[in-house]
Amino acid sequence: MKIAIFDSGIGGLTVLHQALQQMPQEDYLYYADTLHVPYGTKTKEEIISCVDEAVAFIAEQDVKALVVACNTATSVAIAELRQKYTFPIIGMEPAVKPAVSQSQKRVLVIATPMTLQEQKLHDLLLQIDMTHIVDLLPLPQLVTLAEDGIFSGAEVETYLQKEFGRYALEDYDTVVLGCTHFNFFKDTLRRLLPGNISLLDGSNGTVKHLQHLLAERGLGENNNGQVTYYQSGKLMLDTTPYEALLSRLDQMQQY
Ligand code: DGL
Repeated sequence: MKIAIFDSGIGGLTVLHQALQQMPQEDYLYYADTLHVPYGTKTKEEIISCVDEAVAFIAEQDVKALVVACNTATSVAIAELRQKYTFPIIGMEPAVKPAVSQSQKRVLVIATPMTLQEQKLHDLLLQIDMTHIVDLLPLPQLVTLAEDGIFSGAEVETYLQKEFGRYALEDYDTVVLGCTHFNFFKDTLRRLLPGNISLLDGSNGTVKHLQHLLAERGLGENNNGQVTYYQSGKLMLDTTPYEALLSRLDQMQQY
């Protein structure tokens, strides 16, 4: 059986990439809801309806677990999904907890507007951000740039410089990447942000969690790392664009 990885678009490929490295013996189903991307600027009801449709399709395939490789979908729909389906479902949320515990200064969380406004994140902040060191910066345009295949260059830099320009960056030592699409911009972020700022993202932790859960439930398999790709319920026949993005992630530096 396969491990399903779901996102609104290409962001979840960063989680698939990590999963293929840590668990090359599993087979995967990657589902991108390309008809409805971006999620982060939609209403809660719209996102829930897109996620419901996607996961209903995924549940009919030969899957043993689902990773919702989308912080936005996780923040609005994970509880309902867990009630509806019996297979294990792993969500993603901005790595705010490790960020706050490692930070000596301030923490900036970048994500979609929906993830940043949702109660789930604010409940977490109430528990862990006692001294109010966390700031939230929505960067929705990074999602559309990524979907357009623009990961670096003038447009990306001008946008990021404008958005980060509103912060005294010397007060920060940690930036949390709270949207899976943002991993594609790590090289640019590394270059634009002061060198002492560490970039934290959730893909490694998510895959470790998945690995642990599969082992615990005896669901591990010895297959060969085959990936079947779907876009909004349709089998993707020419998979070269997604394979090229996985190679791009291979070539990116680890930060
Ligand atoms: N990749 C998604 C996330 O992690 C959402 C991007 C979007 O569709 O807005 O939040």
